Amino acid sequence: MDDIKIITKDAKETICLGGKLAKLLKPGDIIGLFGELGSGKTTFVKGIASGLGLKKESVNSPTFVLMNIYQGKMPIYHFDLYRLEDKMQIEEIGYEDFLYAKGVSLVEWAEKAKDLMPKEYLRIYFRHKTINEREIRIVAKGKRYLILIKELNKK
Ligand SMILES: Nc1ncnc2c1ncn2[C@@H]1O[C@H](COP(=O)(O)OP(=O)(O)OP(=O)(O)O)[C@@H](O)[C@H]1O
Ligand SMILES: [Mg+2]
Repeated sequence: MDDIKIITKDAKETICLGGKLAKLLKPGDIIGLFGELGSGKTTFVKGIASGLGLKKESVNSPTFVLMNIYQGKMPIYHFDLYRLEDKMQIEEIGYEDFLYAKGVSLVEWAEKAKDLMPKEYLRIYFRHKTINEREIRIVAKGKRYLILIKELNKK
């Protein structure tokens, strides 16, 4: 199985799912978050951050700076590429240096990164079902992420 589909009923459940995944993450892991406005990407990042020992409140979408760094149990590189117009902009901030650094990279609006995303990473797709329900589909690309999904399935 290289994908999992989960429906969360409210923001708390999405945070909880992020927290579960956080426990399995290792330095160097890369996660791309896809989906429309308000579908829960940042909420999920809050869950990952709290799973790595940070307060949820420290996480906000880095809308104007493209990236925030939080220091949890390991560094978290939180990108939001919504406003990205030109690939040069993220190349300038050393995007790839972060992706391959000693932390986890979480990339909101990964669809905008296009070929800047690596070949192997965990893809997470968010969709509105109802006002408070979200469909979250987690897809593994690459061996490391297949293992991650297997571990998540056991939880
Ligand atoms: N099941 C749910 N999962 C996640 N968020 C939910 C859920 N139900 C309601 N919400 C609410 O929906 C909003 C999701 O916003 P969030 O900032 O996480 O979305 P986003 O995908 O990051 O949007 P953007 O593309 O603007 O960055 C929050 O206000 C959250 O409280
Ligand atoms: Mg967001």
